[in-house]
Amino acid sequence: MHTTSSQRPRLLVTRAIFPDVVERLRQHFDVMDNPEDALLSRDQMREHLQGCDAVLTTPSEIIDAEMLASCSRLRMCSNMAVGYNNLDLPALTAIGVLATNTPNVLTETTADFGFALLLATARRVTEAERWLRDGHWTKWRYDTLLGCDVHGSTLGILGMGRIGQAIARRGAHGFGMKVIYHNRSQLDAVTEQECRARYVSREALLRESDHLVLVLPYSAANHHAIGMEELRQMKPTASLINIARGGIVDDAALAQALRDGTIAAAGLDVYDGEPQVHPDLLTLDNVVLTPHIASASEATRRAMANLAADNLIAFFTRGEALTPLNPE
Ligand code: DGY
Repeated sequence: MHTTSSQRPRLLVTRAIFPDVVERLRQHFDVMDNPEDALLSRDQMREHLQGCDAVLTTPSEIIDAEMLASCSRLRMCSNMAVGYNNLDLPALTAIGVLATNTPNVLTETTADFGFALLLATARRVTEAERWLRDGHWTKWRYDTLLGCDVHGSTLGILGMGRIGQAIARRGAHGFGMKVIYHNRSQLDAVTEQECRARYVSREALLRESDHLVLVLPYSAANHHAIGMEELRQMKPTASLINIARGGIVDDAALAQALRDGTIAAAGLDVYDGEPQVHPDLLTLDNVVLTPHIASASEATRRAMANLAADNLIAFFTRGEALTPLNPE
């Protein structure tokens, strides 16, 4: 860890981020950063956090009540992600720590990737490349790597926030898909019309989707919301795409469902316990696996880092963050 010392507020940047963003933060904070991107144990993290006024976190760091117990100086936690299931918001609020996330800047990039994963899964893109590289392509055949059509099929979306809506627009306007969704609450009529999306029950969503995309925020309440029971309600030709959080899907049940043909295929960018991936998933050809990169375009990751920094600077210079999660 690298530190500088002054009278300014003390900021811990838990992981490597864009160096120019760290330099910008140094103009306002006494920064302890981690350019080598060492993975900090919870004990190391707790130790570094003591005496800090603020912390810039990524989705990998769990900031819970136990972690916060000895952080008497902490005033702010700026999370470089739109998802904040790694933060215990009630625990932060209870000790008066403001939390922020990075909404909006990653919506379209994440929706692009959701669609990339959907297309790759339906048309077996990564499997086909492995097959070709392994030297299996000796002649054209009518039935080589037959996939499933995307255009004209039914796109199901579970979780219809900003990213869900951006995926719906791509599906409806770009691919002529019939879009159905389920969400905690139904969207207003104008937004539904713009997305050309129809609200259905959770059961109908599972039953009718050809491609089901998960985009809902993770919470303890929806842990393993998609398990064997739900997978059995899906079409045997359907694919499941998860760009939300790993804990939403029971990966062991999914591997079983992919193996026995309960559903046809899956595309996963997130995993329960990542960066570990359930070993059964690694043995299957009908699943596309990517390492939590849905928001990973150069421009968007930079925008996320800058928004995380802007939140810190705004709060410590003007007393008000840009995208607070638990304002007073
Ligand atoms: C987010 O912003 O929540 C993404 O998952 C981080 O890549």
